[in-house]
Formats: sequence, structure tokens, C-alpha cells
Amino acid sequence: MSRWIGTANQGYSPYAIEELRRLLDGVKVTQLAAGETFLFDSERQAEEVAAAVAADKPIFLRHLQPVDRTVEIKGNADDLQELSETVRRSRLLFEDKQVAIHVRRVSKTAFPYSASDTKAVLDAVLEELDAEPVVQQPDIIIAIYAAASELYIGFGNPEDMLSDWPGGAVRFQREEGQISRAKFKLLEAEREFALDYSKFRNAMDIGAAPGGWTSLLLERGLRVTAIDPGDLHPSLAGHPALTYLKRNASEVKFKPGAFDLLVCDMSWSPMQMCRLVLDLEEALAPHATAIITIKLMHKKPLQTIREVKERFSTAFIIKRAKQLFHNREEITLYLEKKQ
Ligand SMILES: C[S@@+](CC[C@H](N)C(=O)[O-])C[C@H]1O[C@@H](n2cnc3c(N)ncnc32)[C@H](O)[C@@H]1O
Repeated sequence: MSRWIGTANQGYSPYAIEELRRLLDGVKVTQLAAGETFLFDSERQAEEVAAAVAADKPIFLRHLQPVDRTVEIKGNADDLQELSETVRRSRLLFEDKQVAIHVRRVSKTAFPYSASDTKAVLDAVLEELDAEPVVQQPDIIIAIYAAASELYIGFGNPEDMLSDWPGGAVRFQREEGQISRAKFKLLEAEREFALDYSKFRNAMDIGAAPGGWTSLLLERGLRVTAIDPGDLHPSLAGHPALTYLKRNASEVKFKPGAFDLLVCDMSWSPMQMCRLVLDLEEALAPHATAIITIKLMHKKPLQTIREVKERFSTAFIIKRAKQLFHNREEITLYLEKKQ
């Protein structure tokens, strides 16, 4: 038996639960935060659950927290005392390790301590135990979820939790002059799919305006061909590595094998987007990478995703499909062009 907290983007937890039910039999679910976070019990041991999820990475399940201990919330300093004792009791797990504390809470009224206050208390305990408190790239995470009346506490590594951010909520710093929030999606895709955009040379950006994705690829040193009937942000005008085609993507044509990266963020009907990308597929070199958002337009996301994957599989290897934290009503596909 093992117990877990699963988290998906707001509104998508039913799909994350469906994915888990397909992966593991006998999953019993209790809602914690509607549409987003849920508690589940599996008949399988924790290692088996982690292995099953790693082998068949889910699309909608954004974060997976083991629940090793459950403590009733008192709403006073006893809670911090109890958390400290829980960490001390497992000292062997943390000794000489880099440890991150992740705290999430449903409401301030139930658990009055903020994430940073709780972290400060537990960081002091970790130091007592010869562990090094860190924020990024920890060996182990102490994850605490404060529900309405209980604290759920779990220890695990970032891989098993599917993220090294609390609840999988990846945060990027907004930059001065940033063209669009959409840029975060492409940044998150780079991290999530372990890519390094600077390794590519020539990118085609379909549906590029206002230019958040294009600007990121230019910053990484790529040549970018941006295609959009809409206007690019004026700050991009005249960039020496940018070719801007102010057109519908159905009207453009390129030499075969001209690009080693295709990115596409057209908020458009998934099937029409597929047709457009497949029409331009010859312009991609063998093994080129593609990062594509799929708009989830109607009520059956799993079916839409299945259909899109099926269509793309004629020309591409489907490496991953994932709803990123920065995706709203969409998911992101990571593809590799076949030979
Ligand atoms: C969500 S925005 C893209 C945001 C962009 N990734 C960024 O980072 O700024 C979608 C864009 O797709 C463009 N688009 C929609 N259909 C298109 C088509 N057939 N050809 C080219 N662009 C298209 C729209 O004009 C719109 O600018």
C-alpha cells in the first residue's frame, strides 16, 4: 500500500486521475483542492508506483507527492514542533544531503504558517542534522501539504515527484521588456524535455506573434524564421538573425531540410494545426525537434491528444506529451522528425 498526493493544472485533475487509474489498478481518490489536488491510495508499494509513473510519463499529472506521515493540524506552534520532530525522526535520510522544503497549504485559516516561515523552522532543524537546506537541485525533498485538517508529509527525490518545484509549479522570473508570457511555456519545455535550444541552428516559429518564443530562440543564438499574419513586437524589428514572414503558415514554402527546430504555438484547431505542420514537415531536417502546443478545444482532451499523436506519428516520433505548468487550456508535444 502507498499513499500519495497528485496535482494537475486547475481543472485537469480528473484527467490526471484517469491516467493514474490506467497505470495502477485499485486507486482510491479523495479530493483535496477541487480540480487540482487529490489524495490517492494505491495497493502497490511506493517504489512500484514511482516506477510505473516513470515508465509511462503522464500528461496531466504534474506533481506526485508521497505521503509518509499524516499529522492532525492544531493551528498553533505545536504544528511546527510536530513537523520538526518528524524531520528529526528521519535524520538518516537527510544527513549530508541537500534538502529542499516544499510547503503548500489549502488555506491560511487551517494552517497559519506561511511556506517561508515553515521552511525557516525546518531549515534550522536540517542544519542540526548535518543536512544542507537548498532551494534548487536537492537530493531529497521534504514535501508538506497542509489540507483542511491534516498535514501530509512525504520525503522523495525530484524525479519521483516529477518536479523540483513545490507542486510542480515552475516559476520563472519575468524580465524587463518581456514580449509575452508565452515565453515561459517554451522555457519550461526546455527544462521539462531536457533540451538545450542553443544546440540548434535554424528554427521555424509558426504562429510567432507577438514574438515571445522567437525572442527566446534569438537569445539562444539561433536563426529564426517567424511566421504569423499578426505583427511581431517592434523590439524584434531588424534583428539580424530574424526572418519575419507576415503570412499565414499555409502560404509559405521552404527548401527541404532547412530547419533543425520547429516550434508552433498557434492557438488553433488541433486538426488544422496538424495539417499545417505536416505540410511544412519537408522543410525539417531528419531528426529535427518540434515543440508544439495543442489547444484542447472541446471536452475530450484525451481523445484530441490521441488523434493528434496519431496524425503526427506518420512523420514524427512522439517523445513526450505534457501539460506544462504554463500551459492553460492546452498541452505541449515534444517530437522528433523521423529519417
Ligand atoms: C498564442 S499566439 C503565439 C504567441 C507566441 N508563441 C509568443 O510567444 O509570443 C498565436 C499566434 O498564432 C497565429 N496564427 C494562427 N493561425 C495561424 C496561421 N495559420 N499561420 C500563422 N500564424 C497563425 C496568430 O496570429 C497568433 O499570433
